[in-house]
Amino acid sequence: MTSTAHQIEGQFLGFIPKPKNKLKYMQLQVGERVLAIKLAKEIRKPVAKEVEVGEKLLVSLDKKKSDPKCQLKLKADHIKKLDSGQSISTAKQGKILICRKSSCSKKGGKQLYAALVETLKNLGLENQVSIEFTGCQKQCKQAPSFILMPGKVKHKYVDPQNLPSLLEAHYLRK
Ligand code: FES
Repeated sequence: MTSTAHQIEGQFLGFIPKPKNKLKYMQLQVGERVLAIKLAKEIRKPVAKEVEVGEKLLVSLDKKKSDPKCQLKLKADHIKKLDSGQSISTAKQGKILICRKSSCSKKGGKQLYAALVETLKNLGLENQVSIEFTGCQKQCKQAPSFILMPGKVKHKYVDPQNLPSLLEAHYLRK
């Protein structure tokens, strides 16, 4: 088993059971030691779905929230299965560009902004996807206009009810 300051290689032993079935911590066998590693929120579900007990993992630690010298303070933000080379990635880093010009503002730009903030939060994407304002995006007739980055995918008016599926498809699905 090899480890660097912010990467640990080990064998997945399962989750540490928590009330309400929260899969917050996993156990990793590293040589003779068994470490409890906290999982970043956005990788909990993918790990539960894709990793089997006994599989070898390369765990990348969150540099700010981990102290490699202290076994009690380890937080993983990315995990890679070593057998298959498959990467269990966190959400894509991204940006949403919202038009702030008058047509869009008058036609619900503020509500769109509020709905996007809430949706990102509900999807656990608030740290991965930021929101920025822009000038006219030349879609004034069907305002409010916004663009999803990466990919530069332009959207005209979207019913707020459809935002969760739209953002999930863009940022969470591979
Ligand atoms: S004012 Fe928003 S796209 Fe033109």
